[in-house]
Amino acid sequence: MKGMNDIFSDEILTRHYVNSTAANVFRRYGFSEVQTPILEEIDIFIRSAGKGSDIVTKEMYTFNNDDGKIICARPEGTAGVIRALIQNKLISNETESKVFYIGSMFRKERPQRGRFREFCQIGAEFVGSDTSTVDIEFLAMIYDWLSNLPLKSSVKLLINDLGEPEERKKYLQSFKKQFRPVIDEFCDFCKKRFNKNTLRLLDCKNITCKRMTQFAPNILDFLNSKSIKRFNEVQEGLKNLKIPFKVSKTLVRGLDYYTKTVFEFVSESGLGSQNAIAGGGRYDGLSHALGGPDVPAIGMAAGLERILLLLEKEKLNLDSNTPDLAIIYADEPGRKKAFELLFKLRNRGLYIDFEHKIKSVKSQMRRANRLKTKEVLIIGTREIENDEVQIKSMNSGQIRLEKLSSI
Ligand code: HAM
Repeated sequence: MKGMNDIFSDEILTRHYVNSTAANVFRRYGFSEVQTPILEEIDIFIRSAGKGSDIVTKEMYTFNNDDGKIICARPEGTAGVIRALIQNKLISNETESKVFYIGSMFRKERPQRGRFREFCQIGAEFVGSDTSTVDIEFLAMIYDWLSNLPLKSSVKLLINDLGEPEERKKYLQSFKKQFRPVIDEFCDFCKKRFNKNTLRLLDCKNITCKRMTQFAPNILDFLNSKSIKRFNEVQEGLKNLKIPFKVSKTLVRGLDYYTKTVFEFVSESGLGSQNAIAGGGRYDGLSHALGGPDVPAIGMAAGLERILLLLEKEKLNLDSNTPDLAIIYADEPGRKKAFELLFKLRNRGLYIDFEHKIKSVKSQMRRANRLKTKEVLIIGTREIENDEVQIKSMNSGQIRLEKLSSI
């Protein structure tokens, strides 16, 4: 299917490597892993991402459930994780919940480099506190993880503050007032979302829209003194930790649930237009909107495939699954003995390779080379009679002799 990929061994190794790097770093910050179902009721995404968001209006894979409800393949992880925390009574104002997740998400988007219809997100959510130190620690955790990966093309952190809902409301009024008279000059897509998903006009990739919105009002001018103080604290904290960042007034994010700090880690080269490798922000009202207690939270998700694209050029030297030993037979009695040895040695925890088709020694050696086998053991009538086999290192060519009866 378009935008949904088959994934094989080498890529899976790299995926495990990236995932475990994330899990190791997140655990050091006190996060534990959570898994939620791929299918969820559509309602939680409408209530969280927003009715007017791209995800809800055109990107979800939906199905009718037996009970008459509409369910969908999750387009993102946050809403499902918060639903799970609420239902399992793991959210309260007295405690903090810090969780991370790794799993497939589904969006019916037009596939292109770095954009798929099934993709894997590595996400984390910190629920229960809204001091600026939470935002700083959370951003430091993602920075810590990404710095642990050999991402040569530099990854840049962009931050912005979308304010409290009241502040954003005033900002939107001013934005609409400025652009309503000239809305016909925007692309068709922006014209359509002007009323429902206004902020997204700011990150439209269309050149004319970009030219228009560079004169848009700055959301930071609409923040009250408390919000400005908070945003300054976040920036100070990042500076103190020597985490480079840039304030971007056009960073708005695509989901309705964000408040206050929002951020994206973008790659400056190698990904083209789909250059956000991770994004997120504070979403203080989501738990309440989903029927849970009114508890603040911040979260992020990274696109695993985009990280893999950036890692493509790196020589990662991951420990791939190559045979420790190939047992090579020289004749029929050797083949019988080889088949016996195969099980004996494998029971000792070794990865042993054996050619089942009847092949010459030369051909079996070629196979051992192709599979990057570490050592080969050669056995035939002569070796059985002499109770001695040769074990050859494929790397150094060195040969050692071993008693067959003691193997
Ligand atoms: P998002 O910005 O929609 O945020 O997605 C997060 C990341 O997922 C993106 O930065 C990108 O790397 C990756 N991604 C998104 N769509 C695709 C796609 N079609 N193909 C490949 N990669 C993709 C969220 O999903 C929020 N739930 C993040 C969050 C967590 N906010 C708070 N908590």
